[in-house]
Amino acid sequence: MARIRFAIAQDAGALIEIMKQYIETPITLEYEVPSIAEMEVQILAVSHAYPFLVIENDDEVIGFAFAHRDLDQPALSWNAELRAYINLNQRGHGYGFKAMEVLIDILRLQNVQNVYSNVTEGNPRSESLHRKLGFVCCGTMHKTGFKNGRWLDVNLLERRISDEKFETEPLPFIPVKKVDKKKLQEIFDKVNASIKD
Ligand SMILES: CC(C)(COP(=O)(O)OP(=O)(O)OC[C@H]1O[C@@H](n2cnc3c(N)ncnc32)[C@H](O)[C@@H]1OP(=O)(O)O)[C@@H](O)C(=O)NCCC(=O)NCCS
Repeated sequence: MARIRFAIAQDAGALIEIMKQYIETPITLEYEVPSIAEMEVQILAVSHAYPFLVIENDDEVIGFAFAHRDLDQPALSWNAELRAYINLNQRGHGYGFKAMEVLIDILRLQNVQNVYSNVTEGNPRSESLHRKLGFVCCGTMHKTGFKNGRWLDVNLLERRISDEKFETEPLPFIPVKKVDKKKLQEIFDKVNASIKD
């Protein structure tokens, strides 16, 4: 039975194995997978303020998804960028979608208002996943990334996740570590009850 939970540093090795499956493709704009130590640092650094999730079943880690701050100016405190990677053999079972929904539910508790994703050209699965989640393309950075001998376009996708009115002072950003644990548990219980396999 699959479930979604917060990542811990000990997940680093499994997450690197999933990243390796995509590292030669333009889906990720990294050139190399991180070392275990670097991945542990990334998990801990992100998890301090934002949700870093792992999807697993009884046998293996199926994938991971996290939110983070792309740009760190104070006026942009209510935004987060999302990323998700699902094991090649486990794609198409709804895990990516559910993990992204959990990220968004948690980010709402943190008073985040806008979420973004950068999707490199030629990634129809990701484009389609984001459309299903209600993202719209708000621009294309043309020939902005160079990988495998090619210049690549990257689409910036956005979704507003807050109902707050623009004319009011926004509620302050709450780091995930300070979010009500009971509310977080409710989110995990609900999604994990909805996962069928
Ligand atoms: C993109 C990714 C996260 C989607 O996760 P997933 O678990 O395979 O997707 P899901 O099964 O949850 O499907 C959700 C939606 O994604 C889209 N999708 C999934 N498989 C697809 C395919 N083969 N072709 C087109 N769209 C597809 C569909 O919109 C699907 O909704 P639907 O089932 O109602 O049609 C996953 O394929 C992946 O890890 N890709 C590599 C990394 C990446 O591109 N990450 C996203 C950028 S941050």
